[in-house]
Amino acid sequence: MRTTERLQPDYSGIDRAAELLLCGELVAFPTETVYGLGGDATNGQAVAGIYQAKGRPSFNPLIAHVADVQQGMDLIALPEAGLKLAEAFWPGPLTLVAPKKPESEVSGLVTAGLETLAVRVPSADLPRALLRAVGRPVAAPSANLSGRISPTRAEHVLDGLDGRIAAVLDGGSCDVGLESTILGFAGEDVNVLRPGGLAIEQVEAVIGRPVTSHDEGRITAPGQLASHYAPRAPLRLNAQNAQPGEVFLSFGEGSTGAMSLSPEGELAEAAANLFDYLHLLDDIAQGRTIAVGPIPERGLGLAINDRLRRAAAPRS
Ligand code: TXA
Ligand code: MG
Repeated sequence: MRTTERLQPDYSGIDRAAELLLCGELVAFPTETVYGLGGDATNGQAVAGIYQAKGRPSFNPLIAHVADVQQGMDLIALPEAGLKLAEAFWPGPLTLVAPKKPESEVSGLVTAGLETLAVRVPSADLPRALLRAVGRPVAAPSANLSGRISPTRAEHVLDGLDGRIAAVLDGGSCDVGLESTILGFAGEDVNVLRPGGLAIEQVEAVIGRPVTSHDEGRITAPGQLASHYAPRAPLRLNAQNAQPGEVFLSFGEGSTGAMSLSPEGELAEAAANLFDYLHLLDDIAQGRTIAVGPIPERGLGLAINDRLRRAAAPRS
């Protein structure tokens, strides 16, 4: 347990919140939709800390929050319809999911290994001032414990996360009170990935055609799809060492020459490296199997093992 700082919505509060975020600490902050639990999106360990604080047993991709429309467009490659939507509704309660640009420095843990990244530009003054002060994308899921409802007041955040995060920036209650609408793109189609604070009618008016909806419950939580990210190479889990025809990804020391998710055996570091290392090994495997050493089933190890089991599962 630690003391969670309560920061006022003034210059010194914003300054302190930005300072903490830039040091890799976690800060909850209000947006016009709900409070987000923020961490530096370019810092894998900070992102791992978000999952840790929420007590989330699996990795769900997170939304990267930025201060203005240009920064948003620098992170993802939006199709024509996406550009129109960004112009019409950013800043605002709209999240757009599109291919992550290679030059974006967002950690692989933010996207949970996906090629696409979710981006949002909040409209409320306080988060925008904070994001400007940070100058980097901030990853933020809703600032509640896993499985609880989203917080719309600083007190709600503290109910679940007091003692688990560095600070909460208190901006009073959120105007919209409902999470952002999330849209994705497939060819010409605009898909509703999650209905939310921006009405679909408004979206359709801008793109000039109807949106498509995924079956409720089928794809709303991509983190729960069995094969949402699987390397091309087969995986062998709980391996003690590499056999001929395998590349080895270890946890902890004792593996000369092999890659280790965390030489010190720290779960947050392992989580921060997981997707980047899997991508890397997948690229060099050339038909070989990726053997992965045992990871303890506690804390973030639960989410790491969950993801590894999905990656190792027969492909659908
Ligand atoms: O209003 C909001 O959107 C709030 C505030 C804090 O910005 N954030 C929020 O985050 O609701 P969260 O983590 O509770 O929900 C984000 C949703 C998840 O359902 C996740 O699966 C989806 O966004 N998501 C994120 N990245 C995605 C991607 N690359 N593809 C598909 N869905 C994605
Ligand atoms: Mg949530």
